Amino acid sequence: EKSGIGIAHSKLILIGEHAVVHGQPAIAIPFPLVGVESVVEYQEGPIRFDSTFYHGPMSSAPLALEGIVNSIHSTLKYLNLPRKDMVIHVKSSIPPGKGLGSSASVAIAIIRSLFSYAKVSYSERELLHFANIAEKFAHGSPSGIDTLTITSESPVWFERENPVSYISPGEDFHFIVADSGRIGDTRSAVESVAHLLKKTPKKIHAKIERIGELTHLAKHALEKAGKNLLGQMLNEAQKELVALGVSDEGLDRLINFAQKEGALGAKLTGAGNGGCIIALAKNEIHSRQLAEKLKEFGAYAVWPFVLRKQD
Ligand code: MEV
Repeated sequence: EKSGIGIAHSKLILIGEHAVVHGQPAIAIPFPLVGVESVVEYQEGPIRFDSTFYHGPMSSAPLALEGIVNSIHSTLKYLNLPRKDMVIHVKSSIPPGKGLGSSASVAIAIIRSLFSYAKVSYSERELLHFANIAEKFAHGSPSGIDTLTITSESPVWFERENPVSYISPGEDFHFIVADSGRIGDTRSAVESVAHLLKKTPKKIHAKIERIGELTHLAKHALEKAGKNLLGQMLNEAQKELVALGVSDEGLDRLINFAQKEGALGAKLTGAGNGGCIIALAKNEIHSRQLAEKLKEFGAYAVWPFVLRKQD
């Protein structure tokens, strides 16, 4: 019986989203609490999807899947596999449109399963190449940070034109991810920032640079200075994201609440305009309390999450 399997976790942008599209650094962390599993099996006939988001022949997949379909076609061509005789089962626990990188995770899990099906080993570069085809369709101008973080086990320091490096946290950091409930659209959020940048270049450029500075300080906080500084950087970055127009009422409401309940810092994560927030708690007990409170306050879903110290 011919079959292949691929899995992928999700990702969080800690700081630097949007600014990273315009050349500033960003820090992203792998988020293993939600993920995707893709299983490919031999089945005669046209390629079919059997997934939580779409069932049926790939040739009639909705436009939203165009990127994934293109990624699959390119991968099959590269592997010398025919564009038929398989079914791709995709199971995802990543809520889509919430800034957690669901599109990139789906693409990566599927590509891994296709390589596994063909019994061909692959490099990280090959994997990213095929996944970025999907991201290009989904976002227009993706920085590549999502796919990179989804294939990483460590926090990532990412700059568009430079090689990636990895960050080793100097202590445990207790985060809470909370879903505002509203679905965001990465493409339109990225486009709205580009539009502002055209309209008032000086003002917006300064904000993008400021986010870059905060990101440098956040790296220092993660590695050495610790959670109080990191919290301040998250709060400062959120102010700039509000000024860039990518926060919204639902996010602001959760962020203000988390800050009032003692979070050291809180901001949106990912593209914004809906989606999730990330908050930094004081310690493990506070993290559990804050998660409970955010849930009661109306967060759609809440994930307490520890970023562990690495030597
Ligand atoms: C999306 O997770 C992060 C953005 O900066 C877009 C990108 O970098 O491609 C908003």
